[in-house]
Amino acid sequence: MKRALTPGTFDPITSGHLDVITRAAQLVDEVVVAVAASQKKGPLFTLEERTALARQATAHLPNVRVEPFDGLLVDFAHEIGASIVVKGLRAVTDFEYEFQQTALNYQLSPELETVFIMSPPQYMYLSSSIVREIASMNDAKLDEFVPACVAEALRAKFAR
Ligand code: COA
Repeated sequence: MKRALTPGTFDPITSGHLDVITRAAQLVDEVVVAVAASQKKGPLFTLEERTALARQATAHLPNVRVEPFDGLLVDFAHEIGASIVVKGLRAVTDFEYEFQQTALNYQLSPELETVFIMSPPQYMYLSSSIVREIASMNDAKLDEFVPACVAEALRAKFAR
């Protein structure tokens, strides 16, 4: 069974993330969306909230499950038997950073393959921080960028 990991902080999961996860799910038997604790980033949503939102957003995808993790990505991949890491590439600006992370992961775990899926044009500019900013200013626009459950959670978070 080919199992892939799609890791990230998912603070919160966006339509761009969902696009990558959906594409990955068509390529392998099972996708595990790995929600990183990422405490250093001081996330808006707790790990439990980010995991729950990712579960709701992917509930329609039968071969996708969502798991939280803390620690090294390579260790988590080993623990759950994943042989591939799938990440989204939005723009050239992502490349340097992804290049560094991938090189490090190859060093730590040579047998773990990393594969990149290019984002389609409509998601190239999208990021979780842009979504958080929009939510804090004009939540009417949110539905274009995130699944409905996430828009609702953001509205609740920023309710004034
Ligand atoms: N669509 C929309 N947004 C996307 C995206 C996509 N396809 N791909 C990335 N992004 C955005 C995220 O929304 C996030 O935006 P923000 O910073 O504006 O909030 C940004 O890109 C960074 O994404 P993030 O989810 O934080 O991922 P990352 O590339 O920084 O890596 C982990 C996160 C979990 C994969 C990485 O930190 C990790 O492996 N951590 C475990 C510890 C470890 O193993 N470290 C050593 C290896 S690096």
